[in-house]
Amino acid sequence: MAEGSQLIRGLEGVVAAETKLCDLDGAHGRLAYAGYSIDDLARKATFEEVCFLLWYGDLPKKAQLAELTAAMGAARAIPAEVTRAFALMPKDTDPNRPLQAAVAMLGMFDPDTTDNSHAANVRKAIRLTSQMATAICAHHRVRSGQSPVAPASDLSHAGNFLYMLTGTRPSPVVTKAFDASLTLYAEHELNASTFTTRTIVSTQSDMHSAVAGGVGALKGPLHGGAGEAVMRTLMEIGEVANVDAFATQALATRRRLMGFGHRVYTAGDPRAAILKGMAEEACRQSGQFKWYEMAVKLHDRIHAAKKLIPNVDFYSAPLFYSMGIPVDVFTPVIAAARIAGWSANIIEQHDDNRLIRPRADYVGSKARPWRPVEER
Ligand SMILES: CC(C)(COP(=O)(O)OP(=O)(O)OC[C@H]1O[C@@H](n2cnc3c(N)ncnc32)[C@H](O)[C@@H]1OP(=O)(O)O)[C@@H](O)C(=O)NCCC(=O)NCCS
Repeated sequence: MAEGSQLIRGLEGVVAAETKLCDLDGAHGRLAYAGYSIDDLARKATFEEVCFLLWYGDLPKKAQLAELTAAMGAARAIPAEVTRAFALMPKDTDPNRPLQAAVAMLGMFDPDTTDNSHAANVRKAIRLTSQMATAICAHHRVRSGQSPVAPASDLSHAGNFLYMLTGTRPSPVVTKAFDASLTLYAEHELNASTFTTRTIVSTQSDMHSAVAGGVGALKGPLHGGAGEAVMRTLMEIGEVANVDAFATQALATRRRLMGFGHRVYTAGDPRAAILKGMAEEACRQSGQFKWYEMAVKLHDRIHAAKKLIPNVDFYSAPLFYSMGIPVDVFTPVIAAARIAGWSANIIEQHDDNRLIRPRADYVGSKARPWRPVEER
């Protein structure tokens, strides 16, 4: 390693990029996209407006929003080959893998595949955001033995996603909660998957290749896979009355509890606070209030004992579950949101690129004498 440089495990606190996308103040629990607070965006903006903000740098005027909405709507179809490929995949495979494969395939069909110019990247961002939603839903339908649902041109990105997943048009309340969830997950600075996408395109590789890598990074339980793990924990607990005993045992065995803790936020994750309110409402409306109650009780116990904060994935779990999203589709849903931020980061990286190539500190054996295989 270069003289004087220092190993920083997990790159904690290392600043590796300049960005105009995400302003994350972990000490004060504040988050803003391009200067707009996450609270305003989640409550007042649509996911399409947030996409525009991330790709073009400011909120759209009415005509600009109409234009982007039309472009995203027109880009929803996926090649028939992708759907046919889903039918060839094992039915019980983790849906992140088909999504990763679908992104790679979409890259093979995209007219701008290897064009890394700003204009081509924005076109690809629009297409990929729409097509990933369709691919996730089509895969779920195919593995369930059902036909994919054709996109509904009169529905928003969020509404159309739930429609394509379930075959039923969602209510305005559910659509709004899902839309806000997409906004909350859309971008989050240099998290592991976004850093992965930036690293990939820093070699002058292209958006689809980077996003396939991003999906791979996202699925890990320390990152986007945590939401699914939270729901599995709540199911393991089973009933509100079991939370205390579960928490006592988890604390005694120093179990790592998914949905708690964060590398950057110390004062609380502002996304979790918004999702908590939405989960309460959605769980009550769907008649599954116990998941919310269990989550709140677990939150209180773990926070009181260890000061660990719930992160974005904690309350999104009961929220998504109460919307009827299958547990193993939670992470693909997060990918369907994070594509907005991944693609925006890829655009930033391509527009001002330098190869990302850190160093490692060699700690293995040195200067070993060579011996032929017969003598080892
Ligand atoms: C997010 C996360 C990976 C951040 O990790 P990190 O910054 O590397 O922090 P560390 O893993 O070093 O943890 C620091 C301390 O907090 C504890 N801790 C952190 N998260 C914890 C959790 N979810 N459950 C139990 N203990 C936890 C660790 O045991 C460690 O304690 P110690 O110093 O006494 O050993 C971590 O909090 C975690 O694993 N959370 C669960 C997964 C999750 O929800 N991920 C989604 C993030 S949005």
